[in-house]
Amino acid sequence: MILFINACVRQESRTKRLADHYLQRFNEPVTEVDLQKISFPLADEDFLSRRDRLCEEWRLDDPMFSLARQFASADHIVIAAPYWNLSFPAALQQYFEQICVRGITFMYNAEGNPQGLCRAQELVYITTTGRDPVPWDYGYGYVKALAESYFGIREVRLIQAAGLDMIGADTEAILAESIWQASSEERQRTKREQQKKTLTPVLMATVFVLYLIGCVAVLMLAGWSPALLMMVIPLVGMIAGINYVLKERRKD
Ligand SMILES: Cc1cc2nc3c(=O)[nH]c(=O)nc-3n(C[C@H](O)[C@H](O)[C@H](O)COP(=O)(O)O)c2cc1C
Repeated sequence: MILFINACVRQESRTKRLADHYLQRFNEPVTEVDLQKISFPLADEDFLSRRDRLCEEWRLDDPMFSLARQFASADHIVIAAPYWNLSFPAALQQYFEQICVRGITFMYNAEGNPQGLCRAQELVYITTTGRDPVPWDYGYGYVKALAESYFGIREVRLIQAAGLDMIGADTEAILAESIWQASSEERQRTKREQQKKTLTPVLMATVFVLYLIGCVAVLMLAGWSPALLMMVIPLVGMIAGINYVLKERRKD
């Protein structure tokens, strides 16, 4: 599922225009969460104790967590938010307060560190700014930190059109440049992924064929016992490796 979190506010939002362009590349339906249409409950003490109690009792199917469950199960996440007061509109922070749920979007491991439970491997953050963004960015920088460290999303990317409100700025040209840049980056990524997809099986097949040739050569030169040994050792290694990975996962 492709999840689009729309934190744009204005009817004529330029951020939304950028997002619409980006979303065109998907060949499947996009699920939109329009934050303007949600009236978030206040995260006060009652809210927190109810949430903690439900988490303790492991009642994670409660309607209170529907946004969190939706976020955790998305395959690809796109967030569009204008740059406001060095970050983003408050509704997006309210949304994060709703979806940061222990046991759904993240959990703490044995060492007490957060560990992501989200399915998505990629999150794209789309924004536009009035001026040049300051280096200490609490918008994208904050979302990236949260997504990587709490939700376990490996790749967090930014698509941005900056300086749209500067005196004399050619807004349309800046937006067009940003759209062009995002498309060309996307084309390069698709190309790299396709190369990886075709190269991996070819590489594996080559290694396997070389290994078989090696086994046959050992069989002919040294007889059955060393050849059998050569076949069994990688097999044992493989089983031990899989066992180790499974054990580590169970530990987490
Ligand atoms: C409430 C508010 C706060 C803003 N704060 C900033 C800011 O801190 N830095 C900045 O460069 N632009 C700021 N802007 C300008 C917006 O980032 C800029 O106009 C953006 O393109 C608006 O996006 P939109 O067209 O999607 O609404 C602010 C705009 C508003 C309405």
